[in-house]
Amino acid sequence: MNHLQFGVDYYPEHWNKNRWPVDLKMMKEMGLDVIRLAEFSWSALEPSDGQFTFDWLDEVLDLCEAYKIKVVLGTPTAAPPAWLIEQMPDIQPMASDGSRRYFGGRHHDCQSHPGYREKIIRYVTTFAKHFGKRECVIGWQVDNELGNSHGDLCYCEYCEKRFRQWLENKYENIDALNENWGTTFWSQGYQTFEEIHAPKKTASGHNPSQVLDWKIFHSDLINDFHALQANIIRSYSKDRFITHNCMGFSDIVSYYDLAKQLDFVSHDQYCEGYWKNYEETTVTEENHRQGIFPAAELDFIRSLKKDNFWIMEQQSSIAGWEIMGRTPRPGQIGLWSMQSVAHGADTIVYFRWRSCPMGTEQYWHGILPHSGKPGRAFYEIKALIQRVKPLMKEIKGSLPKPKVAIVYSYEQNYAMQIQPHHPDLHYVNHLMTFYNELHQNNVPVDFVSELEDWSQYSLVIAPFQYLMGQEQEQAYRKYVKNGGKLIVTMRTGVKMRNNLCLIDEELPGNLQDVLGVQVNEYDCLRKNDVAVTLNEQKGYGSKWADILTPTTAQTLATYRSEFYAGQAAITVNHYGKGDAYYVGTELDSTLMHHFLAPSLKELTNLPQTPAGVEITSRENDNCTYYFVLNHRDEAMTIDIPQNWTAYFEDQDSSKLAPYSYQIYFERKNHG
Ligand code: GAL
Repeated sequence: MNHLQFGVDYYPEHWNKNRWPVDLKMMKEMGLDVIRLAEFSWSALEPSDGQFTFDWLDEVLDLCEAYKIKVVLGTPTAAPPAWLIEQMPDIQPMASDGSRRYFGGRHHDCQSHPGYREKIIRYVTTFAKHFGKRECVIGWQVDNELGNSHGDLCYCEYCEKRFRQWLENKYENIDALNENWGTTFWSQGYQTFEEIHAPKKTASGHNPSQVLDWKIFHSDLINDFHALQANIIRSYSKDRFITHNCMGFSDIVSYYDLAKQLDFVSHDQYCEGYWKNYEETTVTEENHRQGIFPAAELDFIRSLKKDNFWIMEQQSSIAGWEIMGRTPRPGQIGLWSMQSVAHGADTIVYFRWRSCPMGTEQYWHGILPHSGKPGRAFYEIKALIQRVKPLMKEIKGSLPKPKVAIVYSYEQNYAMQIQPHHPDLHYVNHLMTFYNELHQNNVPVDFVSELEDWSQYSLVIAPFQYLMGQEQEQAYRKYVKNGGKLIVTMRTGVKMRNNLCLIDEELPGNLQDVLGVQVNEYDCLRKNDVAVTLNEQKGYGSKWADILTPTTAQTLATYRSEFYAGQAAITVNHYGKGDAYYVGTELDSTLMHHFLAPSLKELTNLPQTPAGVEITSRENDNCTYYFVLNHRDEAMTIDIPQNWTAYFEDQDSSKLAPYSYQIYFERKNHG
């Protein structure tokens, strides 16, 4: 990576050029060292087919070089221009009902379209050749938030064609496809790959195996779209990095795969009041306010490469398109920024420099208000930069060192989206029931994929392991055998990786001996929570109940209502040198607290804090740095361990102001 700590996303094309030097001078004075440019400026850089107007951007880069500001350049494929759409209207993506999503917003592109890809190759080649060696250009971002706005994917004929090729590659012959998709059901058998279509809106229902493949195909397509551009950039702009602004748990594209193409991962972090209504999103407002969900997303992003990352868009003011979120409280922007740092960000780039007077994002505010005159956000960020820049230089490369990992799988998530079982069962929310409890106890957490080496973790939590393959099964078996502690939850092993139900065996399939249980019955709880007792503690399970019959496992918690009252809800089985837990229902916070409590001591040495106050640490060979973050709107007092030294002399270690952070350190004793 490089040695930059703070930056901003800048859109000079929105402003009169007389303003550019004023902006860059202010940025420099503020302590910003890097800007991201051009990721939405296709029509300003190629206003008509093949006519490139790079002069204005060259002027901006000249100014950057004069002010010693570094640049990350974006390719503009998230917003193809009107002339291109006029030429090839079928670039506009097709929704599952066959309608088009038209020009006028962004991401109105089909990533399979061969004609569109030709235009991209020409643009990116010309662009990278022209700017790739400029002194100030240190790196690249392909497109913007790949997967964003692709909720309904693209179902057009070009995507269908690629899908067929992808299927042929995967299954080799049509008989294998028929078998893996179970096409004898409802007379869906295919004679040739040509007969297969995208899973568009049907008269009724869908084939779950087909939809799963479709979702995986789309993730691969987006990765291929990224590679198309990244390969060109690498050949014309050598020694520069390529990163991408990911979006936490957004699931259209597998970030595990994307991360392999990147020099380092970046993330866009918007903490307060997403522009959507909370009911539409996956987390509660309270969860956000206490900083828990943002923390989980940061941990996930760090986990993609188990390395430091950038924030490419850190919220700098009010967020909102049509509806706005709350204005960040005094101190809150600094708090959020330091939360990103605490979880492993080495560079923070704010979105955006100045609130834009036009377009969809008029109310997604920047560091400067519409007037361009510095206000509270500007002064708060400036003060933050002055205060923490030396610290960030010092801690660069240090990381949290979690002993617990939560398995996050795109495919399990897809399978649950296809058949959620219960109207409110949601994969990420289900994972969050574990994360919440760990986070509230200041336990650092990594996320892992289903097939990596987990031996460094003493606890692996693998919620909803619904699709089970042989390799994955062996990985779990090996992990527990060698002494690991594994927690799985309801619906484990129900299906094979092709989304067909397991037959010939009781659930949870081949892992029965590791888990020491059988699941012979289950209950979708709908609106009825089920009473559960765990070590005398009473609580409730919701949404789903796997009714467990221990074979060799010991019962830890028992259902107390319904016809299965008295039967096991949570079990533990000793297997090899390790322990395997089965949690049959979604636990409420009381039960989760008591379930995880015995494990917590060995997972963290950080002090306990009240809800809404978070402690996270980063360490290198010589030192551990502690970040104490108060997400509450009231002052909090916490006990700071004796051996921690305040990083800033003016820190009042007895009191944390509302929305504030404190930093401490502890040198490691190598003697
Ligand atoms: C991000 C996106 C930015 C901007 C911002 C505010 O998701 O990357 O381009 O749109 O949201 O809406």
